[in-house]
This record gives sequence, C-alpha cells and structure tokens, in this order.
Amino acid sequence: MDAIDVIVTKRDGRELSREQIDWVIDAYTGGVVADEQMSSLAMAILLNGMNRREIAEWTQAMIRSGARMDWSALPGRTTDKHSTGGVGDKITLPLAPLVAACGGYVPQLSGRGLGHTGGTLDKLESIPGWRALLSNDEMLDVLNKAGAVICAAGDGLAPADKKLYALRDVTGTVESIPLIASSIMSKKIAEGTGALVLDVKVGSGAFMKTVERARELATTMVELGTDAGVNTVALLTAMDRPLGRAVGNALEVTESVEVLAGGGPEDVVELTVRLAREMLQAAGVSGKDPEEALKDGSAMDAWRRMITAQGGDPDALLPKAAETMEITAPSSGVLTRLDAYGVGLAAWRLGAGRERKEDPVSFGAGIMLHAKPGDMVRQGQPLMTLHADETSRFERALAALEGSYTIGESGDRDLLPLVIDRITA
Ligand code: URA
Repeated sequence: MDAIDVIVTKRDGRELSREQIDWVIDAYTGGVVADEQMSSLAMAILLNGMNRREIAEWTQAMIRSGARMDWSALPGRTTDKHSTGGVGDKITLPLAPLVAACGGYVPQLSGRGLGHTGGTLDKLESIPGWRALLSNDEMLDVLNKAGAVICAAGDGLAPADKKLYALRDVTGTVESIPLIASSIMSKKIAEGTGALVLDVKVGSGAFMKTVERARELATTMVELGTDAGVNTVALLTAMDRPLGRAVGNALEVTESVEVLAGGGPEDVVELTVRLAREMLQAAGVSGKDPEEALKDGSAMDAWRRMITAQGGDPDALLPKAAETMEITAPSSGVLTRLDAYGVGLAAWRLGAGRERKEDPVSFGAGIMLHAKPGDMVRQGQPLMTLHADETSRFERALAALEGSYTIGESGDRDLLPLVIDRITA
C-alpha cells in the first residue's frame, strides 16, 4: 500500500477500501505518511466526500489508534452529551451533575476553547483548586463519588484525530462533514459511553451556519454512533443568539450554579432539562425527573460532590475582572436581534478566550447580557456589561459588537426555535 495510491483513489472520486483506510490512518499516526500527503487526502475527502461505510471505517481506525475506555466497573449505565459549541453554551456544567442526580453516570471528556466559543475546561478552571487532568483511576473514583466527571481527554484517546485535526486546522480542511463527524465521534466512542446525545448548534455563533448543514452533520454522527453500538440521538438547537445571559468563564459558572439552585435563565434551564431527559432515555435509565432534581437540591448536591472530588472548592469566590463597561440601548423598542457571533467575538477580545492553544484565558472576562431578543428596552437602559482585566480591551470588543444587535418594532419572529429538530437512527 502507498499513500499516493490512496490519495489518487479519493482524488478521482472513488471509494476507499477498508484496507486503504486502516493503512493510511495507522501509517499517518506512526509518521510513515507525511503531513503533506495527509493534507492532500483530507482535501480530496473534503471535495469528494465519503459514504457511510467509509466514514464508519475511518472513525473505527481513528479509535484503534489509541485506547478505548471502559466503565463496566460502574454500578449503573453511562450516558454523555457532546455540543458542537456555541456562545454562552455552559450547559455541560449543570447537565452532568443533573443527570447523575437522576441515576445516570456521566464520563465527560471535554476540551478547552479556541476562537469565539468557550471551552468547558476553561470555565471549570475558574473554580479555585479544580483539576482538569485526571488519570483513568481518578475518573472512576469521581464517577463513583459523584456520578459525573468532567475532565480533559488524555493523549492516549484517538491520537490519529489529534494529529489530523491540527493538520486540518492549517490546510483549509476543517469544514468537511465526514471529517468533522469522524473526529468528534472517534473521541466520544473511545470515551466508552453507552449512550450519547449530540447538541448540534445552528446559527451565526455555531460551526454550522444553516439548518441543512447541521442536519447533515447530525445524521452522519447519529449513524456513526449507532453503527458503533452507542445509542445516539441528536438535537439541532439555536445558536443565532447567545445561550443564557452570561458569556465568559467564571460568569458562566455563576449562571450554571443558579440553574442548579433552581433559578437561572429560561433558555438554559429548558435546554438543560431537555438534554438531561434525552440522555437518561438514551441510556434506558428511569430515575428521578430532571425538573424534580433541580427543585429538590439533589442536582446541586451532585455538583458539589463532583467539584470537591476534583479538588475544587464549590464555595470559593470566583475570579472577577478588574474593569467593567456598560452598553446602553441607543433607542426604545424591542431587541429583535442579538448576534451570537458578535457577542462571542467581543467576549473573546475581552480576554475570555485564547488566540493560540498555549495562551492563558482571563477567568473573570466576558459579557453579562441584560436584555435578550424579544425583550422590550428603553433608551438608556443597560443592554450588557463588558468585563475585562484591562480597559484597553474595551475598544476592540465594542468594534465586534457594532451592528450585532437591532432594536426595532417587532417581536422575536426571526429567531430560530430553541430546539429545531431531533434526529434519531
Ligand atoms: N470538533 C472536533 O473535535 N473535530 C472537528 O473536526 C471539529 C470540531
């Protein structure tokens, strides 16, 4: 087998055989296939696509490049959620302990943020003492104590994807649905969860800008999960406006704790409860109803156990940014549009996100939204508060927000519904 043969097969629009797929993933991970050859193959895949069999075999080959985790020692069923990422999407934080409080076990491997969407680990790291890096034994220990663990994926999980994703990032080959789906699902299947709910975001603040592209990605991932024996369901959800009122690491932790205390913004609560029910149903767990677990304090108890078991202090004061700036409504009317991408970019420029993988984030930086689309506002009323460690960051954040909200006459008729569609096998 050689790399040119595999590249030419896909360049000419033909199907890759299982032998070709297994060989090229293995040879690329081992350094036998060069980066320039793999980037050429990735471009051929982006242009000519892969069929269901090819995507499934590509995914399995990436899983086999590393370790597959095993949770059979737990006394109950595992279930997890993956979101394709969005602005203000802190749902994992209340969701994992909520599902644990209802009888599911959640072994969640998460990432750090890059670009305008935040990363779950960055958010949790704003809690003093909390540790993202756990060994497999420590993960099992936290799962036994709290029913949920959220931590970083180790280097041993789908190393082929790690290498390929970094290459796609610099070769214009990220936006291929077969490559995105196999990348996400190789990690989720290797994580060893028994059931999986995918939250595929749609809109300006999401990876997928249209419902059609999001549906195609969701269907491909549901097929991959199902073919691998993981009970998989996907929801398509709105990311044309930010989720909740808080955007930024510590600000989002505070909002998540409000949800666990039985309060919090309506959209965050609604999506958290919906995803929790989907996760429990996909795993076949019929315990307490999630709405009940938010009311009776058991979800909050699971959160406190999970944070404490990972070295964090759930009662500690969270970092605050040194400077704030208020943006007020320029006129009276209805806030008809609040663009997720603009808000995400502004929060990132305030210091909530990072430009390069190795950059630190500011835990206190971000944006608090005082009005959401559909709300009436009066001229001069605060629309949002920007938080940053240095005042010099405000100017570029304001530039990102320019044109990203509209105050008009009508209500929220242009908004996507919070849950747009549900995709099953
Ligand atoms: N997230 C991933 O893990 N992989 C992709 O290809 C895109 C998003």
